[in-house]
Amino acid sequence: MKNTVLIVGNGGREHALLKAVLRSGRDITAFAYPGSCGMERDGCISVKADITNWNDLATWAKENGVDLAIIGPELPLTEGIVDIFLGAGIPSFGPSKLAAQLEGSKHFSKEIMKKYGIPTAEYETVTNRLEAEEYLEKVGGAPIVIKVSGLAGGKGAIVCETQADVDAAIEEIYGKGSFGEAADQVVIEEMMYGEEASIFVVTDGEGYKILPAAQDHKRIFDNDKGPNTGGMGAYTPAPVVTDEILSRVEKEIIKPTLSAMINEGMRYQGLLYVGIMLTDKGPRVVEYNCRFGDPETEAVLPMVDCDWYQLFRASALGGIENIDWSIRSGFTSTIVLASAGYPATSDKGRVITGVEVADAIENVDVYHAGTALNAKGELITNGGRVLAVTAFGETLQASIELAYTAVSNIKYEGLQFRTDIGKKGLARF
Ligand code: AMP
Ligand code: GLY
Repeated sequence: MKNTVLIVGNGGREHALLKAVLRSGRDITAFAYPGSCGMERDGCISVKADITNWNDLATWAKENGVDLAIIGPELPLTEGIVDIFLGAGIPSFGPSKLAAQLEGSKHFSKEIMKKYGIPTAEYETVTNRLEAEEYLEKVGGAPIVIKVSGLAGGKGAIVCETQADVDAAIEEIYGKGSFGEAADQVVIEEMMYGEEASIFVVTDGEGYKILPAAQDHKRIFDNDKGPNTGGMGAYTPAPVVTDEILSRVEKEIIKPTLSAMINEGMRYQGLLYVGIMLTDKGPRVVEYNCRFGDPETEAVLPMVDCDWYQLFRASALGGIENIDWSIRSGFTSTIVLASAGYPATSDKGRVITGVEVADAIENVDVYHAGTALNAKGELITNGGRVLAVTAFGETLQASIELAYTAVSNIKYEGLQFRTDIGKKGLARF
């Protein structure tokens, strides 16, 4: 039987989701909206129809026989794309609009954690400058973290080490109004200390599968220097998340979160991304996201042997516990290749060479994040994060070395990448 999937999104994450679904060995027709040049190279068809809202896309999907929609980014999810697709009778991988509030509203997620005793930083939600300043004074100011509650493209959490950082954050939020409506509510929370890890859980609301823990590299430069980015690399499994820690995360965070959402009448289906910090009091939640992380997805999906089509459908329809699933032994490392100026600006139109050579290496996969074809049909850069290169190895060291060997084949003007991906993991062996 032929299956037809529609992937919503166009980043490295969506390319990895496509490759995972195609690995299922099924006869699959894959569409993507808006899709990318890299996804097209793998046979995926970009939807070119005139789509002005998610209802249009649902109608298009219905007319084109889509039997599974996979939603990559948070914005469509918080806008309720899954509710719209389900209304059109299309099983969709991702949470409902209400459930997606776990990412869409930090205030909501903190309230859930408080109500259900899920470990996280102490906090208060404020709605104006005066309340913010009063609370900051009460708790003694820096070090502290100030977060706008709404979606802010990954820039909404301001970690304040000093009083000057606090003043700058308050000015940015309330003086300049840089975050708009996203700052209608602001969460001010205790600073936590420890290593961070990303835990991905595929769930149908009750049953779940936990993917191997990954570590992202958020800063642009080596040794976690420079400004934050969308993520410059990842590796998995991260040894800092020992089996003991993972079982605590499962018992103290994952299970209570899923049952809290059922209790609130907002059953959580899709991918639950739990960002944790390993503090000296144990694992605590930094944030929830309602979708896969990028670039962690490019590292994590190749570590699992399963029929991803079937798993994503089971997440939407139920029965996830019955799906066969096995985690490979070994490690993957993912290096993100960015363009000049990223993250402040992003250069475009530089000709990229060597992608095929890198991709042809055994145990290496190249994912496209921001690429395009020019009039001559050459591959060019088309965004801040351009490519993500993943390599599998029996050891973490081997996977890192293979990933950098693959990267050494790829060239374009202004290419920048971190040279220390996985270093924190290596230090634990
Ligand atoms: P968020 O958008 O909530 O994930 O925050 C982005 C980043 O800010 C996290 O990955 C952490 O590195 C940092 N961060 C957020 N909250 C805290 C906290 N309470 N303590 C320390 N660092 C934090
Ligand atoms: N890599 C972090 C994120 O996707 O939010």
